[in-house]
Amino acid sequence: MAHENLTIVEHPLVQHKLTLMRKKSTATGEFRQLLREISMLLGYEITRNLSVSNRPIETPLMEMDAPMLAGKKLVLVSILRAGNGLLEGLLELIPSARVGFVGLYRDEEKLRPVEYYLKMPRGLDDRLVIAVDPMLATGYSAAAAVDRVKRAGATNIRFLCLVAAPEGVDVMAKHHPDVPVVTAALDERLNEIGYIMPGLGDAGDRMYGTK
Ligand code: URA
Repeated sequence: MAHENLTIVEHPLVQHKLTLMRKKSTATGEFRQLLREISMLLGYEITRNLSVSNRPIETPLMEMDAPMLAGKKLVLVSILRAGNGLLEGLLELIPSARVGFVGLYRDEEKLRPVEYYLKMPRGLDDRLVIAVDPMLATGYSAAAAVDRVKRAGATNIRFLCLVAAPEGVDVMAKHHPDVPVVTAALDERLNEIGYIMPGLGDAGDRMYGTK
């Protein structure tokens, strides 16, 4: 199935770093460093079409009109906990971004995400919001997080991940067809317990050394 909502960032540096992250021999510290680097490269791609307007400045030599980002500061929304890995690098790239957090856990009976934490900046209606989670697996928590972002007033939303499963991309397209998804890779499938194959394992555990 064609994924019209999906952009895959095929830049060689992104692909190389992702391969290093996938390797099971890559230890926690290196994994985190790679995630920080790759999130900056993905951030560069996802912000490619932000608008700029010229402002008068003075260089040491003369005055000029030079481009600066236009409009309100953008908002990054981290889907806890693994989203924080992408968030860190993105904040290095866009230090003035506002930040929101969505915490969801999976109800094992109903297999649906349940909210345990929500904090959003104000004034989302006229800002670009980039929701981040390294792994777009079933897509249920991504879709539920974007529900919350929309309920908080956002109308211009993008979703950024590192690895996506076709199932998750389809769930996002069905629930949020207006939200473009940007990823470094579209993997083969989900396994029977919802992990992306071949994937890179549990992103949170690999980032924080919790396994
Ligand atoms: N979350 C992860 O961290 N990894 C997966 O493969 C799927 C969901």
